[in-house]
Formats: sequence, C-alpha cells, structure tokens
Amino acid sequence: MADPRAAARALISEHALIAGEAVTGSGSRIAVDDPATGEIIGHVPDLGEAETKQAIQAAHDAFPGWSRTDPHKRAAFLREWARLIDENIDGLGALMALENGKPFEEAKVEAVYANSFLKWFAGEAERLLGDTQDSPLGHAIITFRQAVGPAALITPWNFPAAMLTRKLGPAFAAGCTAVVKPASQTPFTAIALVELAYKAGLPKGALSLITGDAATIGGVLTSSPLIRKLSFTGSTPVGKKLAEQCAPTLKRLSMELGGAAPLIVFADADLDVAVAETIKGKFRNSGQTCVCPNRVYVERSVSEEFAEKLAAEVAKLKVGNAFEDGVKVGPLIEDKAVDKVERHLEHIKEKGGRVLTGGGRHELGGRFFQPTVTLGGDDALFREEETFGPLVPIFAFDSEDEVLAKANDSEFGLASYLFTRDLDRAFRVGRQIEAGMCGINTGLTSTAVAPFGGVKESGYGREGSTHGIDEYVDIKALTLGLR
Ligand code: SIN
Repeated sequence: MADPRAAARALISEHALIAGEAVTGSGSRIAVDDPATGEIIGHVPDLGEAETKQAIQAAHDAFPGWSRTDPHKRAAFLREWARLIDENIDGLGALMALENGKPFEEAKVEAVYANSFLKWFAGEAERLLGDTQDSPLGHAIITFRQAVGPAALITPWNFPAAMLTRKLGPAFAAGCTAVVKPASQTPFTAIALVELAYKAGLPKGALSLITGDAATIGGVLTSSPLIRKLSFTGSTPVGKKLAEQCAPTLKRLSMELGGAAPLIVFADADLDVAVAETIKGKFRNSGQTCVCPNRVYVERSVSEEFAEKLAAEVAKLKVGNAFEDGVKVGPLIEDKAVDKVERHLEHIKEKGGRVLTGGGRHELGGRFFQPTVTLGGDDALFREEETFGPLVPIFAFDSEDEVLAKANDSEFGLASYLFTRDLDRAFRVGRQIEAGMCGINTGLTSTAVAPFGGVKESGYGREGSTHGIDEYVDIKALTLGLR
C-alpha cells in the first residue's frame, strides 16, 4: 500500500449512523487522536439520550422482519459483508493503526481476525439447530433457537474491529438487530465496518451506531425495555455497573471483562518456545489485551535462564509509530495508560525486582513506553490489576502447588498459559487453573473457532466458537399434543 496514512484518512467518516442514515448531531463533537502523535485525526458527534432512543426504536422496529428472515439469507448477508471487508483489509488495518496506534502489520492481522467471525457465524446461522423429544405426557416437544431481540453491543478500543464483529456476527446470525456503542478513542473503524454492512445489503434499522458519552448512552441502552440483550467488552467495574443497570429489565448479558492472566513456565518446558510465545501473547497490541500474560511465573531452577533469554528478545522489539517499518510495539492508547505501567514498574522495583531490559518511558516520549522485563519482587499487585502495557514481570516459584495457588489467587479468571512437556501436568494444571481459557505451550489462543470468555470477575458468556451464538438465542419449546 503506497500511503497507508492517506488510505486511513480516506476511510474516516465523522458521523454516527441511525438505521443506516448518517447522523452528525447538532451539538458538541468528540475529538479522536492518533496516540502516536496526539494529533487530532477527526471528530464524532457527541450524541445522547434522544438519538440513542431513536436507534433503539429502529432496532425494535426492524427486529420482526430480520429475525424471521431465512437464516440462509442472513448467512448470505454475513458472507457478502465479509467479502467487502476482505477487499478493504489494508484500508481497515491502516485506519486501526491510525486511531489505535497498533503497528500497521498487526492491525491488518486484526482486520482478518475480525472478518473470521463473520465467516464463522455465517455458517452458524445455517446450523441453528433445535431438537425433538417425546414427552411423558404423550406430547412431542420441538425446540427452536430464536433470536433474543434487539441487542446493545458496547465495544472497546483495543480491538476496534474484532470485538465488534465477534458480537455482530452471532447477533446477526441469530436474527438479532443491534445498537452499537464503540469506544470514543477508536470509533472510525466501527463506523467504516457499519457502512460496509449496509453496503452488503443489511436492512435499514437492523444496525445503528451511536457515538458519545459512554455513561449516558450506556444508561439509555441498559434501561430500555426494548433492548433484550447486552454484550459488553471492557473493564470489570464498568461491567458490574452495566449488569446492575440491566437488572430491572432482566436482559440477557455477556460480559467479557478484565483479566490478570498468569503464565507459568515449568522447568521441563522448551524455554525457547516459552520465550517466543510469551512475547507473542504479551506484546500483542503493545500489551493492551485482556488476555495478555500479566504475571509470569517460572520454576526457580530455570528462572534466571528464561528471564535472560526473554529480556534479550524483548530488547530487540522496535518501538515506534504504527506505520514505520519493523515496528512491533506502538504507543499506549492514552496518557493515563502510560502512568499505570510506570506505577506497576515502580512497584516491582520497590519490592526488590530487577529490571533486565527497558525500565521506563521511551525516548520517543508521549505515550511510548519501553518494552520491559523484570525479575523478582512481589506478584500481589499483578494478581489484581491488569498492567495493560509492555511490562513483563517474572517471579520464581518452587512447586506446582505453590504456583497454582498463586495463579488462582485473583478475582480474575480470563486467560492463563502454561508451558511444560509433561502431558499429565499440562492436563492437571490446565484443568485446575481458574480461568475460562488456558493456552498450553502457546501464548496465543484467540481464534473465531475457540470459545472466548472468563470465569469469576472476568465475566460470563462465551464469544466465538459453536457456543457464541447461544448468547443471542432463546430456546423456544413447542409442545405438540399427539392424538
Ligand atoms: C480483548 O483483549 O478483549 C480481546 C483479545 C482477543 O480477542 O484475543
């Protein structure tokens, strides 16, 4: 691509969409910046209660038609939408790189990952199977999996495309209509995707996208009796608040919340594999994913060796602007994200940890932080707080029981990772780790075909996989009296 920045700018639409129509609003606007430079790249309207209610009404009105559309037609729509996205992978990647700051090459991978959810759920629309059962009352019971209703989908800034399609794919496959609220830091990718959905033939009203203050829009979406489902990806405190707000109308909920993923390396592991996979998991999106290893536990006999190898590789990661060649680590999304990584690093140092590479803000300034590896100190903070940045704290352990207890001593339970060549141990520890997902000898488990979701305060519900569509359907039982 000759000029990805120009391609990204060409895709920026500075409006929300209600029932497929562009809405610019008449009031204030929200500025969106390039996290690498702080430069304003565009604005979106700061919409509120009135527009959110309009979008909800549109989703409600469109629901009977869309939910009764032949599922094969919904699948065909999803495939057409996916085809248009495939034609625009570079442009969408450039747009994400610009508004999120993730390296351009990585952003293109996200665009492909995002699209894989639409392709997968197109197939799922065609397999919305029910079942039959003879009843002891002499009836035949027939079940159908029917769309729950209009859905509110609140998506985060760290995966501006994939978190949207991971929700919209199953929602549309099931026959739900939707109102989307993208993160204010990265709305342009979501807007571009919604425009492509309409280009692919989505009926008017089936999808709206509202930009503006999250608390205001979230409040309207959660209190509306017309919205029957809420899917949220974001922090645990916000998830709890939204769940509370949904209680009076008893909406179906999916909550993909925070994590503090443990990554465990046993002495029998292939250390080179463990190092490479730790980097893959940890430095994806510059350390800003809910499934990033947050605390690395290494068996004491190999902890120095692992830490040195990891530090040597991390030191090679090029930091810079998303569009520079070879960049692997971009800026963090906002200033307070940098403050948090710095605070976590200070904590490690205060508790006696050693810095093996990196160790502070990057010389590029702004929101750049050096990829950092530490060894030692105390892990307590990292069990309860996600760093969400390029810091790998390593802690030594002495026994399987000790490390399992530490891994599980957290309110979170989203992702986890372990490295071992002992198959018994892999299954034993993998099954006992309190997390929705456990990668064994891999640092990257996310794909459209794997169930994604957590336990404990990391939330509930599963996205992707054969389970993802269950979050958007109710079981309807028809009981047929046989005479
Ligand atoms: C997330 O960080 O919320 C999602 C990451 C993924 O899909 O792998």
